[in-house]
Amino acid sequence: MEFKETDHLPIPSPSLSPTRWWSEETVAIVTGANKGIGFALVRRMAELGLKVILTARDMERGCKAIEALKAQGLYNVTFFCLDVSDPCSIKTFATWFTANFAALDILVNNAAVSFKEIMKTQLNMRRQ
Ligand SMILES: NC(=O)c1ccc[n+]([C@@H]2O[C@H](COP(=O)([O-])OP(=O)(O)OC[C@H]3O[C@@H](n4cnc5c(N)ncnc54)[C@H](OP(=O)(O)O)[C@@H]3O)[C@@H](O)[C@H]2O)c1
Repeated sequence: MEFKETDHLPIPSPSLSPTRWWSEETVAIVTGANKGIGFALVRRMAELGLKVILTARDMERGCKAIEALKAQGLYNVTFFCLDVSDPCSIKTFATWFTANFAALDILVNNAAVSFKEIMKTQLNMRRQ
């Protein structure tokens, strides 16, 4: 079957869905979200009205990302530092999250999916 430019994509955009399954109470976490795909996901979910937690390993880069979203009128985003390769940082984040939110609805494990980086990290942890 030929796909023409005028054809619609088979998966409709969530914003066009007739059954809205999320609300402003829906909580989403995105890791590695100060730039790239993670940042774009945070922005889209914030535009759709979800409660979004933007996490980044660097405080300054995370804060800059939040400021950029606020400049676009998106205030339903909270920042917290999270380095997914650091067990201590993960524990701190988990403690903060459980103290402040009743439940987690969406987790986007976006940060550091590259196998090369994961292998390097695992290697370094074994050496220590
Ligand atoms: N773009 C593609 O075509 C593509 C294709 C396949 C898979 N992916 C995967 O999709 C993910 C996002 O891709 P992207 O293109 O948006 O990458 P990107 O622009 O390089 O962004 C990666 C993000 O992950 C963060 N990050 C890296 N290590 C981290 C750690 N240990 N803890 C917390 N955050 C960390 C980076 O933070 P810093 O700014 O601090 O470095 C950055 O915010 C990546 O995992 C990538 O492997 C991408």
